[in-house]
Amino acid sequence: MLLADQLKAALLQRVGMRGDITAAKIEAQLAKIPADEREFWVQNTVNLPPQSPAWQAFIEPFLIHETYFFRHENQLEFLATKVLPDLIQERIHSNRHEFRIWCAACSSGEEAFTAALLLREALHSSRDFSKIDWKISVTGTDLSAEVLAKARHGEYHASAGLNSFRDIPAFAKHHFPSIFQHAEKTWRPDDALKRTVHFQQRNLVTDPAPVSDVDLIMCRNVLIYLDESSVRRSIATMQAALRPGGVLVLGPADMLKHTDGWELLTNQKAMFWRKTTPLQTSNSTPAQR
Ligand SMILES: C[S@@+](CC[C@H](N)C(=O)[O-])C[C@H]1O[C@@H](n2cnc3c(N)ncnc32)[C@H](O)[C@@H]1O
Repeated sequence: MLLADQLKAALLQRVGMRGDITAAKIEAQLAKIPADEREFWVQNTVNLPPQSPAWQAFIEPFLIHETYFFRHENQLEFLATKVLPDLIQERIHSNRHEFRIWCAACSSGEEAFTAALLLREALHSSRDFSKIDWKISVTGTDLSAEVLAKARHGEYHASAGLNSFRDIPAFAKHHFPSIFQHAEKTWRPDDALKRTVHFQQRNLVTDPAPVSDVDLIMCRNVLIYLDESSVRRSIATMQAALRPGGVLVLGPADMLKHTDGWELLTNQKAMFWRKTTPLQTSNSTPAQR
C-alpha cells in the first residue's frame, strides 16, 4: 500500500474521516518528512496508540474546529420555542426532574454553552419552575484534546475578525452583557453554567456515549466529514444514548439515511429527529404516522 494510503486508512478507521477530505493534507504532511525517513515515519504513526499525545498531534491538522455561539439561528429558534419546551413537559409529566444534553463534537465549547443557556431559559419559562428542583447537565465531547482544553478554560474573546460572537442573533445578545453592553473583550460562563456544563474527550465513531437517558443530543457540522459506515456507527451510539422521545439535532447539511426508530419532527428543516418509543412501529415513514 502507498504511504499516503496507509495514513488515509488509519484516519478512516480511527477517526472515521473520509479519504477525499484527508488526501491533500496527508500529502502536505508527507512532504514535510525527508524522503528517506517517510516509510519509518508512516509505520510509526499508524501504530501510535490513539490516546497518545503523538497521535493526537498527528490528527489535529485534519480536524476542522469552526464553531461559534448560537450557530444556525433558525434551528435554535425551533429548539428554544418547540423542542425544549416539549421535552421539559415530558419530564414534568413523568415526574423525573432531570434534563440531560449531550453536545457531540462540541469543539471549543460554544455549542455546549449555547445549549445550556437555551435550556436555562426554557426551564425558567416552564410550568412550576420555582417549585421544581431540576437536575440538569450538559456534556460536551470532542476528539480533540486541544479544543477541549479551551472549552474547559471557558474564556471567550471578542477579538477582531471571526470569533465566537460573530453571529449572535438579536434574541440572544442579552446572554453576553460583557460583550454587547459593556464593550469588554471577554465572556466567561457564570458559576451556574460552569456547574452545568462538563467536557470529556470522546471519539464519536469508536467510543461509547458519555451519558445515557439523554433528552437532547446536538451533533452538528461533524458528520459531513465522516464516511458512511462511521456516520452509521455514530448515529447508533447516539440513538442508544437518547431516552425514548429524546431528540437528535443534526447540522443543516446532515440527513439521516436510515430512519428506523426515528420520527422527523419538522418537514421544513430535516434536522430534528425524535427517537420513537419502543411501542411505536419503526418501519413506517414520518409522513405515514
Ligand atoms: C466543525 S466542528 C463543529 C462544532 C460544533 N458542533 C458546531 O456545529 O459549531 C467539528 C468538530 O468535530 C470534531 N470531530 C471530528 N471527528 C470527530 C470524531 N470522530 N469524534 C469526535 N469529534 C470529532 C472536531 O474535532 C471538531 O471540533
